[in-house]
Amino acid sequence: MSVKQSLVELPLDLDRQRIPRHVAVIMDGNGRWAKSRGFPRIIGHQKGVDALKSLLRCCDDWGIEVLTAYAFSTENWGRPTHEVEFLMTLFERVLRKELEEMMAEDVKIRFVGDLKALPDSLQAQIAYSMEKTANNKGIQFNVATNYGSRQEILHACKSIASEVQQGKIRVEDINEELFERNLYTGELINPDLLIRTSGEMRLSNFLLWQMAYGEIYVTPTLWPDFDREEFHQALLNYQQRDRRFGKIKH
Ligand code: IPE
Ligand code: IPE
Ligand code: MG
Repeated sequence: MSVKQSLVELPLDLDRQRIPRHVAVIMDGNGRWAKSRGFPRIIGHQKGVDALKSLLRCCDDWGIEVLTAYAFSTENWGRPTHEVEFLMTLFERVLRKELEEMMAEDVKIRFVGDLKALPDSLQAQIAYSMEKTANNKGIQFNVATNYGSRQEILHACKSIASEVQQGKIRVEDINEELFERNLYTGELINPDLLIRTSGEMRLSNFLLWQMAYGEIYVTPTLWPDFDREEFHQALLNYQQRDRRFGKIKH
């Protein structure tokens, strides 16, 4: 197999010093992928799992520290019941099936979102996987499930307000750092790069606070077709960006 085909090592045209530490991904387009092939939407979700697994491995191979994937939004409950139920069952099945491999590859998995609203059996599987992988030292893999940024920000406001009410902190103590610690993403570094597949130019309620200075890359490719070469292109594009953070060059 040629180097270009395998892409196991970091491609030579990427600068190892400028690899994003945290990559986030909006895995969009599963339904369209399936529809274009005459399949029901759920087949697209199933294929989407394979794309996520290979992206996780690729991030690990190429030295990315954190991968955060948007799996289910707070707005996705508005989809037909059978699709929502399929997704919940899929998450649980995949999580159970992949745990052994995540342990072998030292992956630390964590879920971000309002987990209490998920089916009990999925919550139990989530808790088990997080506990089992808690001390793993490899890539940090976050799965945003029943995640909505507005809901996350409100949740943070409420917990901070309650600490003030109990006299644990003062209003003057509230700053960006404290606020950030109260988000579901907690102590995690903010994403350097957010990739959205299937061409939509929006955040869809994903990481609104955390993406204040993150770079956005949108590709028309549908999520199940997103592979190492696509990721390579995203990183090449990212490495050409001039991240100014509001400043100017001297
Ligand atoms: C993303 O693909 C997966 C989830 C939101 C769970 P979609 O299901 O949104 O696929 P499209 O956008 O309808 O093609
Ligand atoms: C965003 O995709 C949510 C996930 C990928 C989980 P959507 O398909 O739900 O977003 P919209 O509806 O196109 O904004
Ligand atoms: Mg979509």
